[in-house]
Amino acid sequence: MLVLGIESSAHTFGVGIVKDGKIIANEKSMYDVGTTGMIPKKVAEFHISNSNNVIRKALKTAGLSIRDIEGIGYTKGPGIGNCLQVGQIIAKTLAVRLGIPMADVNHGLGHIEIARLMSRLEDPVVLYVSGGNSQILKATGKRYRHYTILGETFDIGVGNMLDSFARSLKLVPSWGSTVEKTAIGGRYVDMPYTVKGMDFSFTGLLTHSIKQINKHTKQDICYSIQETAFSMLCEATERALLLTNSDEICVCGGVAQNTRLKEMLSKIALSHHSKFGFSENQFNADNGAMIAFVAERMLSNGYKIKIKDCRIEQRYRVDRAVVF
Ligand code: FE2
Repeated sequence: MLVLGIESSAHTFGVGIVKDGKIIANEKSMYDVGTTGMIPKKVAEFHISNSNNVIRKALKTAGLSIRDIEGIGYTKGPGIGNCLQVGQIIAKTLAVRLGIPMADVNHGLGHIEIARLMSRLEDPVVLYVSGGNSQILKATGKRYRHYTILGETFDIGVGNMLDSFARSLKLVPSWGSTVEKTAIGGRYVDMPYTVKGMDFSFTGLLTHSIKQINKHTKQDICYSIQETAFSMLCEATERALLLTNSDEICVCGGVAQNTRLKEMLSKIALSHHSKFGFSENQFNADNGAMIAFVAERMLSNGYKIKIKDCRIEQRYRVDRAVVF
Protein backbone atom coordinates (compact mmCIF):
# COMPACT_ATOMS: atom_id res chain seq x y z
CA MET A 1 0.00 0.00 0.00
CA LEU A 2 1.22 3.50 -0.82
CA VAL A 3 0.71 5.80 2.17
CA LEU A 4 1.60 9.45 2.78
CA GLY A 5 2.16 10.52 6.38
CA ILE A 6 2.05 14.05 7.80
CA GLU A 7 3.84 15.03 11.01
CA SER A 8 3.21 18.47 12.52
CA SER A 9 3.17 18.01 16.31
CA ALA A 10 5.81 20.68 17.07
CA HIS A 11 8.50 22.62 15.15
CA THR A 12 8.70 20.23 12.17
CA PHE A 13 6.34 19.88 9.25
CA GLY A 14 7.29 16.49 7.83
CA VAL A 15 5.92 14.41 4.97
CA GLY A 16 6.91 10.81 4.41
CA ILE A 17 5.81 8.23 1.86
CA VAL A 18 5.90 4.50 2.51
CA LYS A 19 5.28 1.71 0.02
CA ASP A 20 4.69 -1.78 1.47
CA GLY A 21 6.76 -1.02 4.58
CA LYS A 22 9.58 0.66 2.67
CA ILE A 23 10.29 4.37 3.11
CA ILE A 24 10.52 6.05 -0.29
CA ALA A 25 10.41 9.72 0.77
CA ASN A 26 11.02 11.71 3.95
CA GLU A 27 10.99 15.50 3.55
CA LYS A 28 10.56 18.27 6.10
CA SER A 29 10.74 21.94 6.92
CA MET A 30 11.68 23.05 10.41
CA TYR A 31 10.70 26.22 12.28
CA ASP A 32 13.74 28.14 13.51
CA VAL A 33 13.34 28.56 17.29
CA GLY A 34 16.14 31.17 17.55
CA THR A 35 16.49 32.05 21.23
CA THR A 36 12.78 32.46 21.99
CA GLY A 37 11.57 28.84 21.76
CA MET A 38 8.31 27.89 20.08
CA ILE A 39 5.37 30.29 19.90
CA PRO A 40 2.48 27.96 18.91
CA LYS A 41 0.62 30.41 16.64
CA LYS A 42 3.80 31.33 14.75
CA VAL A 43 4.86 27.69 14.34
CA ALA A 44 1.39 26.78 12.99
CA GLU A 45 1.57 29.66 10.49
CA PHE A 46 5.01 28.43 9.42
CA HIS A 47 3.58 24.94 8.83
CA ILE A 48 0.67 26.31 6.79
CA SER A 49 2.97 28.32 4.51
CA ASN A 50 5.42 25.43 4.00
CA SER A 51 3.05 22.47 3.75
CA ASN A 52 2.52 22.60 -0.01
CA ASN A 53 6.23 22.69 -0.79
CA VAL A 54 7.06 19.79 1.54
CA ILE A 55 4.27 17.61 0.09
CA ARG A 56 5.42 18.38 -3.48
CA LYS A 57 9.05 17.66 -2.56
CA ALA A 58 8.13 14.27 -1.02
CA LEU A 59 6.09 13.29 -4.10
CA LYS A 60 8.96 14.36 -6.37
CA THR A 61 11.49 12.30 -4.35
CA ALA A 62 9.22 9.25 -4.57
CA GLY A 63 8.54 9.88 -8.29
CA LEU A 64 4.79 9.95 -7.70
CA SER A 65 1.75 12.10 -8.33
CA ILE A 66 -0.64 12.86 -5.46
CA ARG A 67 -3.23 10.70 -7.28
CA ASP A 68 -1.03 7.61 -6.75
CA ILE A 69 -1.41 7.85 -2.95
CA GLU A 70 -3.72 5.18 -1.49
CA GLY A 71 -3.92 6.24 2.15
CA ILE A 72 -3.12 9.16 4.48
CA GLY A 73 -1.78 9.20 8.02
CA TYR A 74 -1.49 12.20 10.33
CA THR A 75 -0.23 12.81 13.86
CA LYS A 76 -3.18 12.85 16.24
CA GLY A 77 -0.97 13.73 19.24
CA PRO A 78 0.69 14.32 21.60
CA GLY A 79 1.88 17.78 20.60
CA ILE A 80 1.08 21.47 20.36
CA GLY A 81 -2.61 22.01 19.54
CA ASN A 82 -2.20 24.70 16.85
CA CYS A 83 0.48 22.66 15.08
CA LEU A 84 -1.40 19.35 15.23
CA GLN A 85 -4.48 21.07 13.76
CA VAL A 86 -2.55 22.09 10.63
CA GLY A 87 -1.49 18.51 9.83
CA GLN A 88 -4.93 17.11 10.60
CA ILE A 89 -6.75 19.60 8.34
CA ILE A 90 -4.32 19.05 5.44
CA ALA A 91 -4.64 15.25 5.83
CA LYS A 92 -8.45 15.47 5.88
CA THR A 93 -8.52 17.74 2.84
CA LEU A 94 -6.32 15.35 0.84
CA ALA A 95 -8.28 12.26 1.96
CA VAL A 96 -11.61 13.80 0.95
CA ARG A 97 -10.26 15.12 -2.36
CA LEU A 98 -8.63 11.80 -3.31
CA GLY A 99 -11.32 9.55 -1.75
CA ILE A 100 -8.78 7.51 0.22
CA PRO A 101 -8.77 6.16 3.84
CA MET A 102 -7.15 7.90 6.79
CA ALA A 103 -5.34 6.78 9.95
CA ASP A 104 -4.71 8.87 13.08
CA VAL A 105 -1.26 8.05 14.45
CA ASN A 106 0.32 8.43 17.88
CA HIS A 107 3.54 10.42 17.53
CA GLY A 108 5.46 8.37 20.11
CA LEU A 109 4.41 5.09 18.51
CA GLY A 110 5.81 6.44 15.24
CA HIS A 111 9.22 7.06 16.85
CA ILE A 112 9.25 3.66 18.58
CA GLU A 113 8.12 1.53 15.66
CA ILE A 114 10.43 3.11 13.11
CA ALA A 115 13.40 2.71 15.49
CA ARG A 116 12.46 -0.94 16.06
CA LEU A 117 12.26 -1.48 12.29
CA MET A 118 15.58 0.23 11.59
CA SER A 119 17.44 -1.52 14.41
CA ARG A 120 15.90 -4.93 13.62
CA LEU A 121 15.01 -5.59 17.26
CA GLU A 122 12.15 -7.97 18.09
CA ASP A 123 10.77 -6.95 21.45
CA PRO A 124 13.05 -4.37 23.10
CA VAL A 125 12.88 -2.29 26.25
CA VAL A 126 12.43 1.16 24.70
CA LEU A 127 13.80 4.44 26.00
CA TYR A 128 11.76 7.15 24.27
CA VAL A 129 13.32 10.55 24.85
CA SER A 130 12.21 13.74 23.14
CA GLY A 131 11.19 17.31 23.97
CA GLY A 132 7.99 16.54 25.82
CA ASN A 133 8.48 12.83 26.52
CA SER A 134 10.82 10.69 28.58
CA GLN A 135 9.50 7.18 28.99
CA ILE A 136 10.69 3.59 29.34
CA LEU A 137 8.35 1.14 27.60
CA LYS A 138 7.84 -2.45 26.59
CA ALA A 139 5.19 -3.98 24.32
CA THR A 140 2.59 -6.06 26.15
CA GLY A 141 -0.80 -7.65 25.47
CA LYS A 142 -1.78 -10.48 23.17
CA ARG A 143 -5.04 -9.64 21.45
CA TYR A 144 -4.34 -5.92 21.36
CA ARG A 145 -0.62 -5.24 21.54
CA HIS A 146 0.39 -1.89 22.97
CA TYR A 147 3.33 -0.32 24.79
CA THR A 148 3.17 -0.26 28.58
CA ILE A 149 4.99 2.60 30.28
CA LEU A 150 7.34 1.10 32.87
CA GLY A 151 8.86 4.39 33.95
CA GLU A 152 8.61 8.06 33.02
CA THR A 153 9.41 11.61 34.01
CA PHE A 154 7.48 13.08 36.94
CA ASP A 155 7.66 16.54 35.39
CA ILE A 156 9.27 17.70 32.13
CA GLY A 157 10.78 15.72 29.26
CA VAL A 158 14.58 15.56 29.09
CA GLY A 159 14.57 17.32 25.69
CA ASN A 160 12.56 20.29 26.97
CA MET A 161 14.84 20.45 30.01
CA LEU A 162 17.96 20.66 27.82
CA ASP A 163 16.29 23.17 25.43
CA SER A 164 15.20 25.31 28.36
CA PHE A 165 18.73 25.26 29.81
CA ALA A 166 20.14 26.19 26.37
CA ARG A 167 17.86 29.27 26.39
CA SER A 168 18.97 30.23 29.92
CA LEU A 169 22.60 29.93 28.80
CA LYS A 170 21.73 31.98 25.67
CA LEU A 171 23.12 29.29 23.38
CA VAL A 172 22.22 29.70 19.70
CA PRO A 173 20.30 27.81 18.48
CA SER A 174 18.65 27.08 21.82
CA TRP A 175 18.54 23.33 21.41
CA GLY A 176 19.78 20.36 23.40
CA SER A 177 22.11 19.64 20.47
CA THR A 178 23.95 22.92 21.21
CA VAL A 179 24.30 21.79 24.85
CA GLU A 180 25.85 18.56 23.50
CA LYS A 181 28.39 20.49 21.39
CA THR A 182 29.22 22.89 24.26
CA ALA A 183 29.71 19.95 26.69
CA ILE A 184 32.63 18.44 24.77
CA GLY A 185 35.74 18.34 26.99
CA GLY A 186 33.86 19.60 30.09
CA ARG A 187 34.51 18.54 33.70
CA TYR A 188 31.89 17.28 36.12
CA VAL A 189 30.42 19.59 38.77
CA ASP A 190 27.93 18.26 41.35
CA MET A 191 24.28 18.13 40.23
CA PRO A 192 21.09 16.80 41.88
CA TYR A 193 20.19 13.28 40.76
CA THR A 194 16.56 12.15 41.07
CA VAL A 195 15.49 8.59 40.26
CA LYS A 196 12.56 7.07 42.18
CA GLY A 197 12.22 3.41 41.25
CA MET A 198 11.53 3.42 37.53
CA ASP A 199 10.66 7.13 37.35
CA PHE A 200 12.78 10.26 37.27
CA SER A 201 12.51 14.03 37.60
CA PHE A 202 14.34 16.81 35.74
CA THR A 203 13.08 20.13 37.16
CA GLY A 204 15.46 20.11 40.16
CA LEU A 205 18.39 19.44 37.84
CA LEU A 206 17.30 22.30 35.56
CA THR A 207 16.86 24.81 38.41
CA HIS A 208 20.23 23.87 39.94
CA SER A 209 22.01 24.08 36.55
CA ILE A 210 20.59 27.57 35.90
CA LYS A 211 21.90 28.67 39.32
CA GLN A 212 25.40 27.47 38.32
CA ILE A 213 25.59 29.91 35.36
CA ASN A 214 28.48 32.35 36.03
CA LYS A 215 29.82 30.05 38.79
CA HIS A 216 31.33 27.50 36.39
CA THR A 217 32.22 27.50 32.69
CA LYS A 218 29.45 26.91 30.13
CA GLN A 219 31.33 23.83 29.04
CA ASP A 220 31.41 22.31 32.56
CA ILE A 221 27.71 22.97 33.28
CA CYS A 222 26.64 21.58 29.88
CA TYR A 223 28.77 18.49 30.47
CA SER A 224 27.40 17.98 33.99
CA ILE A 225 23.71 18.49 33.17
CA GLN A 226 24.01 15.96 30.33
CA GLU A 227 25.94 13.38 32.34
CA THR A 228 23.46 13.61 35.23
CA ALA A 229 20.28 13.50 33.13
CA PHE A 230 21.53 10.63 30.97
CA SER A 231 22.78 8.64 34.00
CA MET A 232 19.28 8.92 35.49
CA LEU A 233 17.72 7.64 32.26
CA CYS A 234 20.29 4.85 32.00
CA GLU A 235 19.81 3.69 35.59
CA ALA A 236 16.04 3.29 35.10
CA THR A 237 16.47 1.68 31.66
CA GLU A 238 18.94 -0.85 33.05
CA ARG A 239 16.50 -1.70 35.85
CA ALA A 240 13.70 -2.17 33.27
CA LEU A 241 15.94 -4.47 31.21
CA LEU A 242 16.59 -6.71 34.23
CA LEU A 243 13.02 -6.65 35.58
CA THR A 244 11.51 -7.62 32.21
CA ASN A 245 14.16 -10.25 31.54
CA SER A 246 14.76 -8.65 28.18
CA ASP A 247 17.93 -8.76 26.11
CA GLU A 248 17.31 -5.81 23.79
CA ILE A 249 17.44 -2.03 24.35
CA CYS A 250 16.19 0.49 21.80
CA VAL A 251 16.47 4.28 22.09
CA CYS A 252 14.34 6.66 20.01
CA GLY A 253 13.04 10.23 19.85
CA GLY A 254 14.79 13.56 19.32
CA VAL A 255 17.24 13.15 22.23
CA ALA A 256 18.31 9.75 20.81
CA GLN A 257 20.36 11.82 18.34
CA ASN A 258 22.75 12.57 21.24
CA THR A 259 25.98 10.60 20.83
CA ARG A 260 26.83 10.54 24.55
CA LEU A 261 23.44 9.04 25.50
CA LYS A 262 23.86 6.28 22.89
CA GLU A 263 27.39 5.60 24.14
CA MET A 264 26.15 5.19 27.74
CA LEU A 265 23.25 2.91 26.72
CA SER A 266 25.47 0.76 24.51
CA LYS A 267 27.76 0.12 27.52
CA ILE A 268 24.78 -1.02 29.61
CA ALA A 269 23.61 -3.33 26.81
CA LEU A 270 27.10 -4.76 26.44
CA SER A 271 27.46 -5.44 30.17
CA HIS A 272 24.19 -7.45 30.08
CA HIS A 273 24.99 -9.30 26.82
CA SER A 274 22.05 -7.52 25.21
CA LYS A 275 21.52 -6.00 21.79
CA PHE A 276 21.33 -2.22 21.47
CA GLY A 277 19.62 -0.45 18.56
CA PHE A 278 18.58 2.96 17.29
CA SER A 279 17.55 4.47 13.99
CA GLU A 280 19.24 7.02 11.75
CA ASN A 281 19.02 10.58 13.08
CA GLN A 282 16.53 11.63 10.40
CA PHE A 283 14.01 9.24 12.04
CA ASN A 284 14.84 10.23 15.64
CA ALA A 285 14.08 13.84 14.77
CA ASP A 286 10.38 14.45 14.07
CA ASN A 287 9.57 13.19 10.59
CA GLY A 288 6.69 12.23 8.31
CA ALA A 289 8.10 8.79 7.39
CA MET A 290 7.38 7.34 10.85
CA ILE A 291 3.77 8.52 10.62
CA ALA A 292 3.41 7.04 7.12
CA PHE A 293 5.02 3.80 8.35
CA VAL A 294 2.58 3.29 11.25
CA ALA A 295 -0.40 4.51 9.17
CA GLU A 296 0.37 1.99 6.43
CA ARG A 297 0.33 -0.85 8.97
CA MET A 298 -2.96 0.40 10.44
CA LEU A 299 -4.65 0.84 7.05
CA SER A 300 -3.42 -2.44 5.58
CA ASN A 301 -4.76 -4.21 8.68
CA GLY A 302 -8.23 -2.81 8.05
CA TYR A 303 -8.17 0.20 10.42
CA LYS A 304 -9.52 3.51 9.14
CA ILE A 305 -11.04 6.55 10.76
CA LYS A 306 -14.11 8.39 9.48
CA ILE A 307 -13.51 12.02 8.52
CA LYS A 308 -16.13 13.17 11.07
CA ASP A 309 -14.25 11.31 13.84
CA CYS A 310 -10.82 12.81 13.08
CA ARG A 311 -9.47 14.57 16.14
CA ILE A 312 -6.27 15.90 17.55
CA GLU A 313 -5.32 15.13 21.15
CA GLN A 314 -2.57 17.18 22.75
CA ARG A 315 -2.03 14.61 25.53
CA TYR A 316 -2.53 11.39 23.54
CA ARG A 317 -0.46 8.93 25.57
CA VAL A 318 1.44 6.23 23.72
CA ASP A 319 0.08 3.44 25.97
CA ARG A 320 -3.41 4.07 24.55
CA ALA A 321 -2.35 3.39 20.96
CA VAL A 322 -2.84 -0.11 19.59
CA VAL A 323 0.17 -1.56 17.77
CA PHE A 324 -0.84 -3.13 14.44
FE1 FE2 B 1 9.10 13.57 18.36
